[in-house]
Amino acid sequence: MSETPGFVHGLAGVPVAHSRICFIDGEKGILEYRGYPIEVLAERSTFEEVAFLLIRGKLPTRAELDDWQSQMKRLRRIKYKLIDLLKCLPETGHPMEALQAGVAALGMFYPGRKSRELEPAIRLTAKLPTLVAAYHRLRAGDADVMPKDELDHGQNFLYMLSERMPDAVEARIFDQCLILHAEHSMNASTFSARVTGSTEADAYAVISSAVGTLMGSLHGGANEEVLELLGRLGTPDKVKPYLDDAMAKKEKIPGFGHRVYKTKDPRALILQGLAERLFQHRGSTPLYDVARELEKQMLERVGKKGIHPNVDYFSGIVYHLLGIQTDLFTPIFAIARVAGWLAHWVEQMEDNRIFRPSEIYTGGREVAYVPIDRR
Ligand code: ACO
Repeated sequence: MSETPGFVHGLAGVPVAHSRICFIDGEKGILEYRGYPIEVLAERSTFEEVAFLLIRGKLPTRAELDDWQSQMKRLRRIKYKLIDLLKCLPETGHPMEALQAGVAALGMFYPGRKSRELEPAIRLTAKLPTLVAAYHRLRAGDADVMPKDELDHGQNFLYMLSERMPDAVEARIFDQCLILHAEHSMNASTFSARVTGSTEADAYAVISSAVGTLMGSLHGGANEEVLELLGRLGTPDKVKPYLDDAMAKKEKIPGFGHRVYKTKDPRALILQGLAERLFQHRGSTPLYDVARELEKQMLERVGKKGIHPNVDYFSGIVYHLLGIQTDLFTPIFAIARVAGWLAHWVEQMEDNRIFRPSEIYTGGREVAYVPIDRR
């Protein structure tokens, strides 16, 4: 079926927009947000500044950044009715499901939510961490923790999760993780955001679509699966028998491969460095030895095909060392990626045309209707 002229399975390589937000060279492993190399942003910037860069299209001046940060802080709190809604959700659900429900409900609280002005974008970026942290605490039977104005975006999220002031080194590393996950051109969830936005649905519907799309194990859900796999393997000697079996069954190994990168994902390189910095601070984890062995053997087996670690490979190790529960990894991805989704929503609405692709119909025609008692 993929041989049909004009049909591109999974839309691989098919441009669906003109965009000034993100540049990727998958052969060379280059990633830039608005033209700024990811390595420079991860080293020198903060998530709040990067969110401004993505959504507003330029780096802020000091006054603009101060204003942006104070707006974000002002908009962090969520209504008590939303807390009540989160309390009613089953604690057996996944926090991504709770996040999607929370984001969808959020839009009902704000009149003028169809506005294309920036307030919904700032509000969503500000409130996503509060939703994730609140659901996490409520499902464990703990009270939610109010945001603290004196903390920056990443610090405040860590604080709302644990009710403890985060260590400065760890909070900085976490903020760098948010920067690395903030944007990645026309991936599945961003496309989903653009498609929803193209119907003129509001920003809350746009972001709840994108959260739902990020959930899957082929996309943002892979970071959780990586850590589960490393934990299951436990020691480097288990890697070979696992890979022999998985490869024979043609299984995909989580955290490897990418539609665009044919070399090691530049974000994986930076995340590996962050993991090593965290080891100096906190001590290493045996999971890292397993991860290194798995990477080595994958390189030997499928490196020639361009299958290398992607962003999800080392992020789980970093979050694990920060004491974060595994099923929060993908919601943390969403907390960061919301900036990219919103940048694409803003851009989509500047020159909008509803997405309406076609299909190649392969079903029957003019089929005779058979009454139910004769089928
Ligand atoms: N493990 C083993 N082999 C792989 C892997 C993998 N993780 N990924 C791709 N391959 C192989 C495929 O088997 C295929 O081989 P073949 O040509 O011999 O049949 C070839 O590489 C191409 O694979 P596709 O599935 O066609 O690549 P596609 O671009 O459609 O998929 C994807 C990309 C979904 C990321 C895929 O590599 C994958 O499933 N990886 C594991 C899940 C994962 O880590 N997802 C996170 C991606 S990053 C992100 O979304 C944030």
